[in-house]
Amino acid sequence: MKNLNLIEVKGHDVMKKNTWDAKKYGKHAEFVPKLAFPLIELLGEIKGKKILDVGCGDGILTLELVKRGADVTAIDSSPEMVEVSKSKGIKALLKTVTDLHYNYEFDIVFSNAVLHWVPEPEKALKNIANSLKDGGIFVAEFGGKGNIRSIIQAMEQVFEENPEFGEFKNVWYFPDVNEYKELLEKTGFNVEYIELIPRPTPIDDIENWLEIFTNVYTSHLTKNQTKLFRSRVKELLKSRIYTLKNGWVADYVRLRLRALKG
Ligand code: BEZ
Repeated sequence: MKNLNLIEVKGHDVMKKNTWDAKKYGKHAEFVPKLAFPLIELLGEIKGKKILDVGCGDGILTLELVKRGADVTAIDSSPEMVEVSKSKGIKALLKTVTDLHYNYEFDIVFSNAVLHWVPEPEKALKNIANSLKDGGIFVAEFGGKGNIRSIIQAMEQVFEENPEFGEFKNVWYFPDVNEYKELLEKTGFNVEYIELIPRPTPIDDIENWLEIFTNVYTSHLTKNQTKLFRSRVKELLKSRIYTLKNGWVADYVRLRLRALKG
């Protein structure tokens, strides 16, 4: 078993990004923003505050921030998601967190379910720190150590069973508390709160989940290979994360934090 916490920096998948289908995301992944509403409570009073939402997706949480009276700028690396957010009246820009050039502009940076997709966590945190005014608040939640371990193990096994798929390379970054706390402090934050939270997450069907979230791993495969990948992963996971009573429940682990720019 390889270290699932490592990010690969070589190989076919590095320069590629997952592509996002906003319709499918809205239908089968609505749990992503829905389960993150408690994260908004970590922000405190936001009326009149300038907020940068890093990775707004289809804008569900962003709209909640706007509804509570904040002046929100949202960024996302997916052109489709940016268009969907704009169509909802959100000030959304096509930008990635590793390519931000804001200086002392925001009271708050907020991010949900995004930072595990970023292969340069230190650069991301430096850019977030630069974007904040002194004393600014950074609140985030994303996949932490052990997140979706069963799913990754099944994906890796399917790659091993099919050498023609190439080498399996984990592109996700799921740090533990100490590692991320250190990075936060190194990039100028005082950490008020940081916690790893196991959060078993009901999903409608693992095949939909795989289609939405793992296309970066299959973009080099043929249609038939992709079909085989998804059905075999599903078969392997059935005994691990599926029950008749509860359906599919993915083994999510969240890293949740609140930090202040020092
Ligand atoms: C998540 O933890 O939100 C996540 C991580 C990787 C793929 C999909 C979702």
